[in-house]
Amino acid sequence: MLLAFTEQGSGPVVVLLHGFPLSRVMWAEQLKTLSESYRVIAPDLRGHGESPAPDAAYTMDLMADDVVELLDGLGVSEPVVVGGLSMGGYVALAMALKHPGRVRALMLIDTKAAADSPEAAQTREETAQAVLKAGNSGEVVAAMIPKLFGKSTLARHPDRVEPLKAEMEKTSASGVAGALRGMAIRPDRREQLAEIAVPTLVIVGEDDVIAPPAEARAMAEALPNGRLEVVSDAGHLAPYENPDAVDQAILGFLQGLN
Ligand code: MLT
Repeated sequence: MLLAFTEQGSGPVVVLLHGFPLSRVMWAEQLKTLSESYRVIAPDLRGHGESPAPDAAYTMDLMADDVVELLDGLGVSEPVVVGGLSMGGYVALAMALKHPGRVRALMLIDTKAAADSPEAAQTREETAQAVLKAGNSGEVVAAMIPKLFGKSTLARHPDRVEPLKAEMEKTSASGVAGALRGMAIRPDRREQLAEIAVPTLVIVGEDDVIAPPAEARAMAEALPNGRLEVVSDAGHLAPYENPDAVDQAILGFLQGLN
C-alpha cells in the first residue's frame, strides 16, 4: 500500500504516526520543531488523510507493514525512532514487535497496550456499520470530539478544535470502518511490553480520558527501558494541545539516544 506522507528535515529518522480518525496534519508543530535536527517522516495511515482506504479491517500489523514498506520505498533501512499517538501508538507497538530490527526507539503517546473489552469491540463494529450506512464519518467524529481535548484547551484555545474536527470529518466511511474493525481485533500487548528492549518514551496528557495517565504509567513501568512524561494542559491530543511541552520532552529523549 502506497501511503501519502510528509517528509521534512535531515538527520536521524523520526517517524510519527497519527491517531484515529486523523491524519499527518496533527503533527504540524512537531514537523516544524523536530525537523531542525531530524528527518521527520509523517505518513497518513491507510484509510486516513490522502492514503487509500480499501474495504477491509486494518489490523495494527497491516498498518505497521505499510510503514515499513514506506521506509523501504524511501531507502531507509537503518532502525528509526517511531512515535505514535493512540491508534498510531498501537501501530508503533505492532512495528516494534513485528519488525524489531527497524525500530531504534519508541514514543508511545496518549495510547495504551491493552486490547478492547468485548463490549468496546462490539460498539466499534456497530459504529463501523452505522458509518458505512451513513457514508461519512460524522457520527464517530461527533462522539469523539468531547473526549479528545483537555479542559484547558477547551477553555483557553477553543479555536484549536475546529481544524482537527474538519480533518476528522474528511476521513471516508470505509477508512473509519477499516480502522475501527482493525482496532477491535488488536491483541492485548501488556505481556509483550517486557520484550521491548529499546528506549521508550511514554507521553500522556494529564487530562487524557481515552488513554488515561494511569495506563501510561503502567505501560512505562512494564517496559524494560520505559520513561513517563505527563504533559500539563492537555487531553488525548497532547502533541497538538501542548506542542511546546511535548516537543521539549521528545527532543530531550532523542538527544539522550545519541
Ligand atoms: C485514537 O485517538 O486513535 C483513538 O481514540 C484510539 C481508539 O479508539 O482506541
